[in-house]
Amino acid sequence: MKNHTILAIETSCDETAVAIINSNREILAHEIISQTEHKIHGGVIPEVASRAHMEHLGYLVKNAIKTSGLNFIDLAAIAATSGPGLIGGLMVGTMMAKAISHAIKKPFIAVNHLEAHALVIRLLHKVEFPFLVLLISGGHCQFLIAQDIGKYIKLGKTLDDSIGEAFDKIARMLGLGYPGGPIIEEFAKHGNGKRFNFPRAMIKRQGCDFSFSGIKTAVKILLKRLKLNERNICDICASFQECVSDILLDRVNNAITMAKSLNFTLNDFVISGGVAANNFLTENLKKHIYLNILSPPKHLCTDNAVMVGWVGIERLQRGYINSIDFAPKAKWSLEDYIY
Ligand code: KG4
Ligand code: ZN
Repeated sequence: MKNHTILAIETSCDETAVAIINSNREILAHEIISQTEHKIHGGVIPEVASRAHMEHLGYLVKNAIKTSGLNFIDLAAIAATSGPGLIGGLMVGTMMAKAISHAIKKPFIAVNHLEAHALVIRLLHKVEFPFLVLLISGGHCQFLIAQDIGKYIKLGKTLDDSIGEAFDKIARMLGLGYPGGPIIEEFAKHGNGKRFNFPRAMIKRQGCDFSFSGIKTAVKILLKRLKLNERNICDICASFQECVSDILLDRVNNAITMAKSLNFTLNDFVISGGVAANNFLTENLKKHIYLNILSPPKHLCTDNAVMVGWVGIERLQRGYINSIDFAPKAKWSLEDYIY
């Protein structure tokens, strides 16, 4: 098959990223800026994010082209994350992709950010459909059966906060900064995970939905009577991770049971999204779950443009391209995504 090269753009949240990759699985360029503007707020401010995407995207595209040693006319298509996410950022990235696509007369591909997290593993490993996906990030928390490109069954989701949000909010309560996930993971290494028994919501219940808002409240209540010294912070971080880990294990077992009852035979289990960068959580699942567990390297777990490019390649190979009229969607379920 002919080698195709794609330029891909990611702007759905607070990473502005551009990648150039080809169907031989080579990453020719990856330019990424994690917006630091949000650190002082402890969370992403949508308008601030949109403005930062506008400021950075143009030169990141130019840098990526320069690094790749190619010209725009060498590209086979342009892909951009067109949802779900913060609408201002999605518009910036999608409009840039459409403009380039129009100028060089090559197809535009609208990529669903969740599909990008779910499929990037296929850039790195031979993972055949169907496979089970646990997508855990700042904005999302769900189990999916990936049946094919554009074909997903959602088995369960969070009823309130995502896991990433729980990490970020607890880190903010502890005064640790943003994003909270990597900082909590670090502090937890020095703490006692058995000291605080945070609520394991949903455990032993049917299905594989999650709920994380109760842990946040439990930490809040605990902090009213506890001094914020290093020992306590480390123990809270470790106990929180231990609690999340127990919940995940219970939910994963139920998700596997549900997939079986739908007559799916699964070998591979892909854990993806920013929280999949957490070694404590993934290692614990690997110890207890019999499926072949795979997760991308850390820099491809958190938001990046390589994963968008990979979905672009998979879709282009099938002729799944989009019209220039495609409107970005702030909400875009993978189950509505059948091409
Ligand atoms: O996938 P991502 O970059 O953005 C979304 O699509 O939401 O995920 C960001 C989330 C943040 O909540 C961040 O705290 C979390 O991923 N995260 C982690 C770790 N690294 C990033 N959570 C736990 N442990 C980590 N090592
Ligand atoms: Zn993401």
